[in-house]
Amino acid sequence: MFASRPSAVFATIVAIISESETRLPRNSRGVTAIYPGSFDPITNGHLDLIQRGSRLFDRLIVSVLRNETKQPLFSAQERMAMLNEVVGRYPNVAVDSFAGLLVDHAGTHSATVLLRGIRAISDYEYELQMALMNRRLNPGLETVFLLANEAYSFISSRLVKEVFALGGNISGLVPPSVEARLKRRMSQLKRKGA
Ligand code: PNS
Repeated sequence: MFASRPSAVFATIVAIISESETRLPRNSRGVTAIYPGSFDPITNGHLDLIQRGSRLFDRLIVSVLRNETKQPLFSAQERMAMLNEVVGRYPNVAVDSFAGLLVDHAGTHSATVLLRGIRAISDYEYELQMALMNRRLNPGLETVFLLANEAYSFISSRLVKEVFALGGNISGLVPPSVEARLKRRMSQLKRKGA
């Protein structure tokens, strides 16, 4: 397969590189991944996954679900602002939001990967269902699962909110900027008598 003359060897290498480049997704130089979620609010487990994803993919878009029927504690704009406050250190990471089908949102970014985190076996069934449904909707979109650092395997946004609302200590579980926003939101809710 390889020619013996240096110029021919070079031509062969160029041909191999060009061939592998043609396998990259169209309209794209490199791989764009979407990391979707509610992020109500972002935890240090999410942040750990963002850091890992930013090393694996050329572009990572953290996409906040705009779904008011879930009655989030923070609006989509607030959740995006919280994310933007902490992803600035990763130059290939951006924040966006979406409503409707995730596969359609991925299409608007020409993304070929959906990134999700798995904390424990209990996450598996839900994640499997979503991944297979998304594959059915768009077979060209691959779901990639990453494990966050084990130190974060018990953290969820739901538990963080619950513990904080009951006066528990959440430092180290969420970024400090998020803890500050949680404090403000809880005192607003208390004032309103909610
Ligand atoms: O952080 P979450 O709440 O576990 O994230 C769930 C999310 C946003 C990934 C999921 O609810 C979603 O993708 N919603 C968009 C609607 C959709 O595409 N549904 C069909 C595929 S499962």
